[in-house]
Amino acid sequence: MTKPKIFISRKLREDLILPLYDIAHVEMWDHEEKPCPRDLLLKQAEDCDALLTMLSDQIDREVFTRQKRLKVVANLAVGYDNIQVEEATEHNIAICNTPEVLTETTADLTFGLLMATARRIVEAAEFVKEGKWTGWSPFLLAGADIHHKTIGIVGMGSIGEAVARRAKGFSMEVLYHNRSRKEEAEKELGATYCSFDELLAHSDFVVCLTPLTEETKHLFNQEAFRKMKKSAIFINAARGAVVDEEALYEALEKKEIQAAGLDVFTKEPIESTHPFLSLPNVVCIPHIGSASIETREEMVRLCVDNIIRVLSHKEPKTLVNKKWLQTNA
Ligand code: DGY
Repeated sequence: MTKPKIFISRKLREDLILPLYDIAHVEMWDHEEKPCPRDLLLKQAEDCDALLTMLSDQIDREVFTRQKRLKVVANLAVGYDNIQVEEATEHNIAICNTPEVLTETTADLTFGLLMATARRIVEAAEFVKEGKWTGWSPFLLAGADIHHKTIGIVGMGSIGEAVARRAKGFSMEVLYHNRSRKEEAEKELGATYCSFDELLAHSDFVVCLTPLTEETKHLFNQEAFRKMKKSAIFINAARGAVVDEEALYEALEKKEIQAAGLDVFTKEPIESTHPFLSLPNVVCIPHIGSASIETREEMVRLCVDNIIRVLSHKEPKTLVNKKWLQTNA
Protein backbone atom coordinates (compact mmCIF):
# COMPACT_ATOMS: atom_id res chain seq x y z
CA MET A 1 0.00 0.00 0.00
CA THR A 2 1.39 3.47 -0.87
CA LYS A 3 1.96 5.81 2.05
CA PRO A 4 -0.26 8.87 2.25
CA LYS A 5 1.29 12.22 1.34
CA ILE A 6 1.27 15.31 3.52
CA PHE A 7 2.27 18.82 2.52
CA ILE A 8 3.24 21.46 5.12
CA SER A 9 3.07 24.99 3.74
CA ARG A 10 5.76 26.47 6.00
CA LYS A 11 9.09 25.28 7.32
CA LEU A 12 8.47 23.83 10.79
CA ARG A 13 10.91 22.31 13.26
CA GLU A 14 11.47 18.66 12.39
CA ASP A 15 11.10 17.38 15.97
CA LEU A 16 7.56 18.77 16.12
CA ILE A 17 6.39 17.00 12.99
CA LEU A 18 8.32 13.77 13.54
CA PRO A 19 5.19 11.62 14.17
CA LEU A 20 4.00 12.40 10.64
CA TYR A 21 7.01 10.63 9.11
CA ASP A 22 5.86 7.33 10.66
CA ILE A 23 2.65 7.31 8.71
CA ALA A 24 3.27 9.37 5.58
CA HIS A 25 5.55 10.82 2.99
CA VAL A 26 6.02 14.43 4.11
CA GLU A 27 6.93 17.42 1.97
CA MET A 28 7.42 20.89 3.39
CA TRP A 29 7.85 24.40 1.96
CA ASP A 30 11.40 25.37 2.82
CA HIS A 31 11.00 28.89 4.26
CA GLU A 32 10.03 30.05 7.71
CA GLU A 33 8.84 33.53 6.85
CA LYS A 34 8.15 33.48 3.12
CA PRO A 35 4.72 32.01 2.34
CA CYS A 36 4.44 29.02 0.08
CA PRO A 37 3.67 30.23 -3.49
CA ARG A 38 0.09 29.69 -4.57
CA ASP A 39 1.14 27.58 -7.58
CA LEU A 40 3.06 25.17 -5.39
CA LEU A 41 0.22 24.89 -2.89
CA LEU A 42 -2.21 24.07 -5.70
CA LYS A 43 0.18 21.55 -7.19
CA GLN A 44 0.75 19.88 -3.83
CA ALA A 45 -2.98 19.82 -3.09
CA GLU A 46 -3.50 17.72 -6.22
CA ASP A 47 -1.99 14.54 -4.82
CA CYS A 48 -1.91 15.10 -1.06
CA ASP A 49 -3.95 13.31 1.59
CA ALA A 50 -3.40 16.06 4.14
CA LEU A 51 -2.35 19.69 4.22
CA LEU A 52 -0.93 21.51 7.22
CA THR A 53 -1.59 25.15 6.36
CA MET A 54 -1.02 28.67 7.69
CA LEU A 55 -3.55 31.49 8.08
CA SER A 56 -1.84 33.22 5.16
CA ASP A 57 -2.78 30.41 2.73
CA GLN A 58 -6.08 30.72 0.87
CA ILE A 59 -7.70 27.30 0.97
CA ASP A 60 -10.58 27.89 -1.41
CA ARG A 61 -12.68 26.29 -4.13
CA GLU A 62 -9.69 26.12 -6.48
CA VAL A 63 -7.77 24.00 -3.97
CA PHE A 64 -10.76 21.73 -3.35
CA THR A 65 -11.41 21.31 -7.06
CA ARG A 66 -7.78 20.50 -7.86
CA GLN A 67 -7.32 17.94 -5.07
CA LYS A 68 -7.92 14.29 -5.84
CA ARG A 69 -7.61 12.60 -2.45
CA LEU A 70 -7.38 15.31 0.18
CA LYS A 71 -8.89 14.19 3.48
CA VAL A 72 -7.88 16.85 5.97
CA VAL A 73 -6.65 20.43 6.20
CA ALA A 74 -5.12 21.28 9.57
CA ASN A 75 -4.81 25.06 9.86
CA LEU A 76 -2.25 26.44 12.31
CA ALA A 77 -4.62 29.03 13.83
CA VAL A 78 -7.87 29.22 15.70
CA GLY A 79 -9.31 31.49 12.99
CA TYR A 80 -10.21 29.80 9.72
CA ASP A 81 -11.49 32.68 7.61
CA ASN A 82 -8.79 31.72 5.07
CA ILE A 83 -10.64 28.46 4.37
CA GLN A 84 -13.89 27.96 2.45
CA VAL A 85 -15.27 25.51 4.96
CA GLU A 86 -18.53 24.71 3.16
CA GLU A 87 -16.64 23.78 0.00
CA ALA A 88 -14.46 21.49 2.09
CA THR A 89 -17.49 19.78 3.59
CA GLU A 90 -18.95 19.26 0.12
CA HIS A 91 -15.74 17.51 -0.83
CA ASN A 92 -15.81 15.47 2.39
CA ILE A 93 -12.63 17.07 3.69
CA ALA A 94 -12.13 17.63 7.42
CA ILE A 95 -11.06 21.12 8.47
CA CYS A 96 -9.24 21.44 11.79
CA ASN A 97 -8.05 24.49 13.70
CA THR A 98 -6.14 25.08 16.95
CA PRO A 99 -8.51 26.46 19.60
CA GLU A 100 -7.92 26.41 23.37
CA VAL A 101 -4.15 25.77 23.22
CA LEU A 102 -3.63 29.42 22.30
CA THR A 103 -6.30 31.05 24.45
CA GLU A 104 -4.20 32.30 27.37
CA THR A 105 -1.23 33.29 25.19
CA THR A 106 -3.42 35.34 22.86
CA ALA A 107 -5.14 36.96 25.84
CA ASP A 108 -1.71 37.88 27.28
CA LEU A 109 -0.76 39.57 24.02
CA THR A 110 -4.10 41.33 23.70
CA PHE A 111 -3.86 42.74 27.20
CA GLY A 112 -0.18 43.57 26.68
CA LEU A 113 -1.06 45.48 23.51
CA LEU A 114 -3.77 47.34 25.41
CA MET A 115 -1.23 48.30 28.09
CA ALA A 116 1.45 49.26 25.55
CA THR A 117 -1.03 51.48 23.72
CA ALA A 118 -2.54 53.11 26.80
CA ARG A 119 0.81 53.78 28.49
CA ARG A 120 2.66 54.61 25.24
CA ILE A 121 5.32 52.03 26.00
CA VAL A 122 6.57 51.58 22.41
CA GLU A 123 6.75 55.34 21.85
CA ALA A 124 8.58 55.73 25.16
CA ALA A 125 11.14 53.04 24.35
CA GLU A 126 11.78 54.64 20.93
CA PHE A 127 12.14 58.01 22.66
CA VAL A 128 14.93 56.70 24.88
CA LYS A 129 16.63 54.87 22.00
CA GLU A 130 16.63 57.99 19.88
CA GLY A 131 18.43 59.93 22.64
CA LYS A 132 15.49 62.28 23.17
CA TRP A 133 15.36 61.80 26.96
CA THR A 134 17.03 64.93 28.16
CA GLY A 135 15.25 65.32 31.49
CA TRP A 136 12.31 64.29 33.63
CA SER A 137 9.10 66.25 33.27
CA PRO A 138 5.71 65.66 34.90
CA PHE A 139 3.72 64.94 31.77
CA LEU A 140 6.46 63.43 29.65
CA LEU A 141 4.85 60.58 27.65
CA ALA A 142 1.89 60.51 30.03
CA GLY A 143 -0.69 58.00 28.85
CA ALA A 144 -4.07 56.77 30.01
CA ASP A 145 -4.84 54.77 33.14
CA ILE A 146 -5.99 51.20 32.72
CA HIS A 147 -7.07 50.22 36.24
CA HIS A 148 -10.67 50.96 37.22
CA LYS A 149 -11.58 51.83 33.62
CA THR A 150 -14.22 50.13 31.46
CA ILE A 151 -13.22 47.52 28.92
CA GLY A 152 -15.68 46.49 26.20
CA ILE A 153 -14.96 43.12 24.64
CA VAL A 154 -16.54 42.43 21.25
CA GLY A 155 -16.48 38.66 20.74
CA MET A 156 -16.68 36.83 24.04
CA GLY A 157 -15.21 33.47 23.05
CA SER A 158 -12.54 31.75 25.12
CA ILE A 159 -9.98 34.46 24.33
CA GLY A 160 -12.48 37.20 25.21
CA GLU A 161 -13.14 35.53 28.55
CA ALA A 162 -9.41 35.18 29.21
CA VAL A 163 -8.95 38.90 28.48
CA ALA A 164 -11.85 39.66 30.84
CA ARG A 165 -10.11 37.69 33.61
CA ARG A 166 -7.00 39.81 33.14
CA ALA A 167 -9.11 42.98 33.17
CA LYS A 168 -10.66 41.92 36.49
CA GLY A 169 -7.14 41.83 37.93
CA PHE A 170 -6.90 45.50 37.01
CA SER A 171 -10.22 46.26 38.76
CA MET A 172 -11.84 47.10 35.43
CA GLU A 173 -15.52 47.06 34.67
CA VAL A 174 -16.12 44.49 31.94
CA LEU A 175 -18.75 44.97 29.23
CA TYR A 176 -19.12 42.52 26.41
CA HIS A 177 -21.03 42.02 23.20
CA ASN A 178 -21.41 38.63 21.60
CA ARG A 179 -23.79 36.77 19.29
CA SER A 180 -25.08 34.91 22.33
CA ARG A 181 -25.03 35.76 26.03
CA LYS A 182 -22.43 34.04 28.17
CA GLU A 183 -24.15 33.63 31.50
CA GLU A 184 -21.27 31.67 33.03
CA ALA A 185 -18.88 34.50 32.19
CA GLU A 186 -21.30 37.02 33.61
CA LYS A 187 -21.36 35.11 36.90
CA GLU A 188 -17.67 34.27 37.06
CA LEU A 189 -16.30 37.61 35.86
CA GLY A 190 -19.07 40.01 36.67
CA ALA A 191 -19.13 40.87 32.97
CA THR A 192 -22.14 42.80 31.69
CA TYR A 193 -23.75 41.99 28.37
CA CYS A 194 -24.74 44.99 26.28
CA SER A 195 -25.60 45.96 22.72
CA PHE A 196 -22.78 46.85 20.34
CA ASP A 197 -23.75 50.54 20.45
CA GLU A 198 -23.93 50.61 24.25
CA LEU A 199 -20.52 48.99 24.46
CA LEU A 200 -19.04 51.55 22.07
CA ALA A 201 -20.53 54.45 24.00
CA HIS A 202 -19.39 53.35 27.45
CA SER A 203 -16.01 51.67 26.98
CA ASP A 204 -12.63 53.27 27.61
CA PHE A 205 -11.04 50.32 25.84
CA VAL A 206 -12.83 48.63 22.95
CA VAL A 207 -11.25 45.25 22.28
CA CYS A 208 -12.07 43.38 19.08
CA LEU A 209 -11.84 39.60 19.39
CA THR A 210 -14.62 38.53 17.09
CA PRO A 211 -13.92 36.09 14.23
CA LEU A 212 -14.05 37.41 10.68
CA THR A 213 -17.27 36.35 8.95
CA GLU A 214 -19.59 37.88 6.35
CA GLU A 215 -21.47 39.49 9.25
CA THR A 216 -18.45 40.95 11.05
CA LYS A 217 -16.58 42.30 8.00
CA HIS A 218 -16.09 46.07 8.57
CA LEU A 219 -18.11 45.90 11.80
CA PHE A 220 -15.85 48.67 13.04
CA ASN A 221 -16.66 51.36 10.48
CA GLN A 222 -16.90 55.15 10.54
CA GLU A 223 -20.22 55.00 12.36
CA ALA A 224 -18.80 52.70 15.04
CA PHE A 225 -15.73 54.87 15.66
CA ARG A 226 -17.95 57.94 15.92
CA LYS A 227 -19.96 56.24 18.67
CA MET A 228 -16.85 55.70 20.80
CA LYS A 229 -15.59 58.13 23.43
CA LYS A 230 -12.98 60.63 22.23
CA SER A 231 -10.68 59.11 24.84
CA ALA A 232 -11.35 55.53 23.67
CA ILE A 233 -8.51 53.18 22.86
CA PHE A 234 -9.25 50.55 20.21
CA ILE A 235 -7.48 47.18 20.23
CA ASN A 236 -7.75 44.60 17.44
CA ALA A 237 -6.32 41.10 17.97
CA ALA A 238 -8.88 39.28 15.80
CA ARG A 239 -8.69 39.83 12.05
CA GLY A 240 -7.88 43.00 10.12
CA ALA A 241 -10.95 42.95 7.91
CA VAL A 242 -13.31 43.25 10.90
CA VAL A 243 -12.18 46.88 10.73
CA ASP A 244 -12.65 49.40 7.95
CA GLU A 245 -9.05 50.59 8.07
CA GLU A 246 -9.71 53.85 6.24
CA ALA A 247 -12.36 54.74 8.79
CA LEU A 248 -10.00 53.85 11.65
CA TYR A 249 -7.23 55.96 10.14
CA GLU A 250 -9.59 58.90 9.85
CA ALA A 251 -10.86 58.49 13.42
CA LEU A 252 -7.29 58.42 14.74
CA GLU A 253 -6.06 61.26 12.58
CA LYS A 254 -8.99 63.49 13.49
CA LYS A 255 -8.62 62.47 17.15
CA GLU A 256 -12.18 61.11 17.20
CA ILE A 257 -10.64 58.32 19.27
CA GLN A 258 -7.42 58.47 21.23
CA ALA A 259 -5.30 55.56 20.10
CA ALA A 260 -5.23 52.06 18.63
CA GLY A 261 -3.23 48.89 19.18
CA LEU A 262 -3.32 46.57 16.18
CA ASP A 263 -2.00 43.03 15.86
CA VAL A 264 -3.87 42.30 12.63
CA PHE A 265 -4.43 44.04 9.30
CA THR A 266 -6.60 43.58 6.23
CA LYS A 267 -3.57 42.81 4.09
CA GLU A 268 -0.63 41.26 5.89
CA PRO A 269 2.22 41.96 6.09
CA ILE A 270 1.84 45.76 6.03
CA GLU A 271 4.47 47.83 4.24
CA SER A 272 6.61 50.35 6.11
CA THR A 273 4.69 53.03 4.18
CA HIS A 274 1.33 51.96 5.62
CA PRO A 275 -0.63 55.07 6.73
CA PHE A 276 -1.07 53.70 10.29
CA LEU A 277 2.69 53.84 10.78
CA SER A 278 2.69 57.61 10.29
CA LEU A 279 0.42 58.07 13.32
CA PRO A 280 2.06 58.41 16.74
CA ASN A 281 -1.04 57.12 18.52
CA VAL A 282 -0.99 53.66 16.89
CA VAL A 283 0.94 50.59 17.99
CA CYS A 284 1.26 48.07 15.15
CA ILE A 285 2.61 44.58 15.73
CA PRO A 286 2.93 41.73 13.21
CA HIS A 287 0.08 39.31 14.00
CA ILE A 288 1.78 37.66 16.96
CA GLY A 289 -1.29 36.97 19.11
CA SER A 290 -0.46 33.34 19.78
CA ALA A 291 3.28 33.63 19.21
CA SER A 292 4.90 32.26 22.32
CA ILE A 293 7.29 29.38 21.71
CA GLU A 294 5.33 27.05 23.99
CA THR A 295 2.00 27.82 22.36
CA ARG A 296 3.23 27.66 18.78
CA GLU A 297 4.74 24.26 19.59
CA GLU A 298 1.41 23.11 21.01
CA MET A 299 -0.41 24.40 17.94
CA VAL A 300 1.87 22.42 15.62
CA ARG A 301 1.45 19.30 17.78
CA LEU A 302 -2.32 19.68 17.62
CA CYS A 303 -2.25 20.00 13.82
CA VAL A 304 -0.03 16.91 13.59
CA ASP A 305 -2.34 15.00 15.90
CA ASN A 306 -5.44 15.99 13.93
CA ILE A 307 -3.85 14.89 10.66
CA ILE A 308 -2.80 11.52 12.09
CA ARG A 309 -6.27 10.98 13.53
CA VAL A 310 -8.08 11.70 10.28
CA LEU A 311 -5.68 9.56 8.25
CA SER A 312 -6.26 6.73 10.76
CA HIS A 313 -10.06 7.07 10.39
CA LYS A 314 -10.48 8.63 13.85
CA GLU A 315 -12.30 11.79 14.81
CA PRO A 316 -9.90 14.75 14.96
CA LYS A 317 -9.62 16.62 18.26
CA THR A 318 -10.61 20.03 16.96
CA LEU A 319 -12.85 19.69 13.95
CA VAL A 320 -14.36 22.85 12.47
CA ASN A 321 -16.89 21.36 10.03
CA LYS A 322 -18.89 19.12 12.34
CA LYS A 323 -21.02 18.02 9.35
CA TRP A 324 -17.99 16.03 8.19
CA LEU A 325 -18.72 13.62 11.05
CA GLN A 326 -22.06 12.66 9.52
CA THR A 327 -20.27 10.92 6.65
CA ASN A 328 -17.15 9.87 8.52
CA ALA A 329 -18.32 8.76 11.98
C1 DGY B 1 -5.18 32.63 15.23
O1 DGY B 1 -4.80 31.54 15.65
O2 DGY B 1 -6.20 32.74 14.55
C2 DGY B 1 -4.36 33.81 15.60
O3 DGY B 1 -4.72 34.92 14.87
C3 DGY B 1 -2.88 33.51 15.43
O4 DGY B 1 -2.12 34.45 16.12
